Amino acid sequence: MVKPNVNLSTPTMPPVGDVQPKADGVRQMFAAISGRYDLLNRVLSMGVDQTWRNQAAREVLALSPKRVLDVATGTADFALALKKMAPDLEVIGCDFVPEMLEVGRHKAKAQQLDVLLEEKDALALDYPDASFDALSCAFGFRNFADYHQGLLEFYRVLRPGGRMVILEFPPPQENLFGSAFRLYFEQVLPRVGRFISGSEYAYTYLPQSVLAFPEPQKLIKMMEDVGFKSRYHLLSGGIAAIHIGVKPFEIKSSEIKPSEIKSSEINPSGAKL
Ligand SMILES: C[S@@+](CC[C@H](N)C(=O)[O-])C[C@H]1O[C@@H](n2cnc3c(N)ncnc32)[C@H](O)[C@@H]1O
Repeated sequence: MVKPNVNLSTPTMPPVGDVQPKADGVRQMFAAISGRYDLLNRVLSMGVDQTWRNQAAREVLALSPKRVLDVATGTADFALALKKMAPDLEVIGCDFVPEMLEVGRHKAKAQQLDVLLEEKDALALDYPDASFDALSCAFGFRNFADYHQGLLEFYRVLRPGGRMVILEFPPPQENLFGSAFRLYFEQVLPRVGRFISGSEYAYTYLPQSVLAFPEPQKLIKMMEDVGFKSRYHLLSGGIAAIHIGVKPFEIKSSEIKPSEIKSSEINPSGAKL
């Protein structure tokens, strides 16, 4: 197990929600829990988290991509699930917390799975435009400091026709099951999480960030605003949700750079026809 190099008793919880200055806090928090992150996932979800990842991975693979980017890959569970399901697939996972990636590299080596894990900020990916056939982001998107900027980057690095899959926890639904889940999420999970992880706030941040996260319909609207054709479906009675966006083949006029406009498309006054 890789030892975290960050003080576990760091007292400040990152802010939750969209457009928040949370990157440093999020980095510090995941660095601190990296060694226990997988164990916590299994215990707190009673093992269901891997089933959700597998369901989302099947959506990523639906159009037989050749090259996939798993953003906010953390300890690489999603990237490894993709590689297991499609051994010929080129899988690149990226995350901005080196401690999480290090755990992922150990797992990849132990499982003899060839995935490339790189340190990158999801809000400023330095991959070329249109360089991936598909892109996934499992339980990472909620932690971004700016959701719109994240979606813009996802859209940019996907090729036209490419598919993006976001697996996230939507806010619990307003029904009996949602209320029961909320009780577990807000009362039980933070205590178990604190006990196992040693972090005072990481598993308080989790439910609070979920409560502050947009409803699926709102996230779909944000995806469509960026240009994706989008849909979603709920998993396990609404505890998790898979959001699927496809980058259309036709390019929006606002995406055409002046350098790409041929002289025959420019009228004598210089305006685009
Ligand atoms: C809850 S973990 C999810 C990890 C993994 N995808 C999984 O399914 O278990 C969230 C991850 O998002 C990463 N993350 C959050 N914001 C990020 C950003 N702006 N750029 C890259 N990674 C980010 C964190 O470092 C953390 O590893």
